[in-house]
Amino acid sequence: MTGKLTFTMIKPSAFKAGYTGNILTKFEEGGYKIIALKKTTLSKEQAGYFYEMHRERPFYGELTDFMSSGPIIAAILEKDNAVESFRKFIGATDPAKAEEGTIRKIYGKSLSENAVHGSDSDESAEREASFFFSLLERV
Ligand code: CMP
Repeated sequence: MTGKLTFTMIKPSAFKAGYTGNILTKFEEGGYKIIALKKTTLSKEQAGYFYEMHRERPFYGELTDFMSSGPIIAAILEKDNAVESFRKFIGATDPAKAEEGTIRKIYGKSLSENAVHGSDSDESAEREASFFFSLLERV
């Protein structure tokens, strides 16, 4: 059992397709309380910083191009054991391998365009949440 907070983004493809409302509703139906929420557009440099840990991976350029290609929705969510439970809730990174009924299965199209991001640890959740939200925006 770990922390109560996780961080998520609705990615540019899902935002552009008009899935934001449905995805936020699914978060709430899944028991995730929205603590902070904003729409913004990342520059390539900001996307690069956010995904810094993947800098050496072959898909880093594609990932940062895509994540800076249009508006995203950033959110901090609260639930017991938030990081681990949310990763199960959204499904496998590759939508083709995600379980039926998960957000990535329903709204994802490919490894890059996998609808939503979810933090992979409590440390990442804190780093990612503070990248997007000031303390004032989190109360
Ligand atoms: P996300 O949860 O946002 O974290 C890192 C992202 O990198 C991941 O979702 C995928 O969208 C993307 N990703 C991971 N592996 C690949 C890959 N092999 N090719 C393209 N994108 C990838």
